[in-house]
This record gives sequence, structure tokens and C-alpha cells, in this order.
Amino acid sequence: MAICSPSSESSSATSGRAWVVHALVVGAAVVAAVGAHAAVYFKWFRKDRSRVVGIIPARFASSRFEGKPLVRILGKPMIQRTWERAKLASTLDHVVVATDSEKIAECCREFGADVIMTSESCKNGTERCNEALQKLGKNYDVVVNIQGDEPLIEPDIIDGVVRALQGAPDAVFSTAVTSLKPEDGLDPNRVKCVVDNHGYAIYFSRGLIPFNKSGKVNPQFPYLLHLGIQSFDSKFLRIYPQLPPTPLQLEEDLEQLKVLENGYKMKVIKVDHDAHGVDTPEDVEKIEALMRERNIS
Ligand SMILES: *[C@@H]1O[C@H](CO)[C@@H](O)[C@H](O)[C@H]1NC(C)=O
Ligand SMILES: *[C@@H]1O[C@H](CO)[C@@H](O)[C@H](O)[C@H]1NC(C)=O
Repeated sequence: MAICSPSSESSSATSGRAWVVHALVVGAAVVAAVGAHAAVYFKWFRKDRSRVVGIIPARFASSRFEGKPLVRILGKPMIQRTWERAKLASTLDHVVVATDSEKIAECCREFGADVIMTSESCKNGTERCNEALQKLGKNYDVVVNIQGDEPLIEPDIIDGVVRALQGAPDAVFSTAVTSLKPEDGLDPNRVKCVVDNHGYAIYFSRGLIPFNKSGKVNPQFPYLLHLGIQSFDSKFLRIYPQLPPTPLQLEEDLEQLKVLENGYKMKVIKVDHDAHGVDTPEDVEKIEALMRERNIS
């Protein structure tokens, strides 16, 4: 807890630097003593947050769409499409599917995915990622939560979110936004985001933010739409589900607000991406039509 809490950030950053200086000295001694060897050398200088795992949480039960991860999109299970895209991301050392369903697990093993079984009691994807991380039993610095219902997610976006977190040691969380279409401005299912000059999130809302005094969507303003992908510092992920719900989180029904309300920083990258989330059976037809149009098979 202390490692991640914002109040101790400066002190842990200081001790982090001290450690690096120490490692430099020891590293130099080792190099001098045994002769320079690239592997040894680079071990001492390994970048923080370098070990990255991508986790695709997938549950079978869903109020809106039972068995959603297994739905076929142009003949291929949706979860397989997401997994294949994730495997192309160059920043991920490992990609796993985390599920509570034997059916999903079996399907995933068939197309070659590593699967971690998680309990049915996981309340949300974040909790499932956390449980999967514990069960993986390996040390990862960064965990990317790759939503299984975005089968067209670009590997570049996954890499972008990971690199954003690697490049912002003061942030515990990173995510992506894209341009909001004006016609989606007043849709509460499209989550809007505002960021500061340095690309850190200020707020997320289901309402239109910023709000123009005309009361209408301003066609000139570059509103931002939040995309589902998130990456976490793994130390933060361990405490995130345990942080008690916060007032803004509850009012907006947006998990990520808990991060900001507790004073943590979140790095946001802007990407070019048409979001094609699959939430309902009707979305499947829409995405198939689009894939045919774009010749994606
Ligand atoms: C609000 O939106 C209108 C266009 O709809 C724009 O002209 C104006 O600059 C915006 N901002 C304010 C403060 O009115
Ligand atoms: C996920 O569910 C748990 C348990 O209900 C809750 O405490 C938590 O706030 C939710 N969200 C996150 C991001 O952990």
C-alpha cells in the first residue's frame, strides 16, 4: 500500500533513485571485476516497468449478452480475434485469457491461448485481472486489461498505452481516448474524458464534458471518447479493487474515477480509432458489415 499511495510517492521516487545510483556503482564494480558482458550490464540498467502481461478478462454470464466472448464474428470466436490482435503487440511479454468458464477456457486452449481460471465471484474485469496476476505467480510490472469485446483493437494502441505508463513513473494507470463523434456527445454510454496539458486525466464523465454554455454539443470542440483499454502498475492493481468505492465513481458508475478520487495520476494517450465494441447481439452484425466493407477476414 505504502509503495503506491500518492503521499509516499516522492519518498519512494527518492529511494528508487538511490537504488539506481547504488546499482550503478555495484554494476561498475562487477563490470570492472569480471569484464564487460552485455547481458550483465543491461540487467543493471533494465528499465522500470519492463515486464508486461496482457490479460483478456472473459466471463460467460452477462446480463446483456450470455456467452458473449464465444460469439462468432465472421466465423471466428470474438475472444480469439481479440487474442490474435493482442499477440501482435510488441510490448507484451505474455498474453493470457482470464475466465471463470470451462467452455471459454476450452475454446481458448484450442486456438492456442494460455488460460488462467479465475473465480466466478469476480465483480468486474479489474478484479479478474488482479486474481489472474496473483495466479500467474510471475512478477510483472505492468498489467494491461484488454477488453474481450473490442475484437478490432489495434496492437499499436496496446503498445501506446503500455509505453505511456512506462514513460510516466508518477502515474499508476494509463488508458486511451479518441475523438468523440458529435452525434455521440449526449450518449451516456459513451464516456468522455478531459485531460491536462501534460496528458494526465482530469475527469471522466457520462455527461458531456466540457459543457458548453449553449447547452449543445459544440461542433468545434475536440471532445474525447474513452476507450476501454487500461494498463496498471501491478503494485497498484493489487490495491485497486480493495479501495472503497468513491462518491464520483458511484454517481457516474465509472470505475476509473476511483483512481482519480484517491489522488492517483492517470496518463492518457490520444489515438485514431473507431471504437467497435460488441455489447449486444446487434453489434455483431454491425461489426461484421464493417469488416466485410474493409476486407478484414
Ligand atoms: C460554445 O459553442 C459555440 C458553438 O456551438 C461556440 O461558438 C462557442 O465559442 C462555444 N463556447 C462558448 C463559451 O460559448
Ligand atoms: C470492482 O468490484 C469491486 C468489488 O465489488 C469493487 O470494490 C471495485 O471498486 C470495482 N472496481 C474496481 C476498479 O476494482
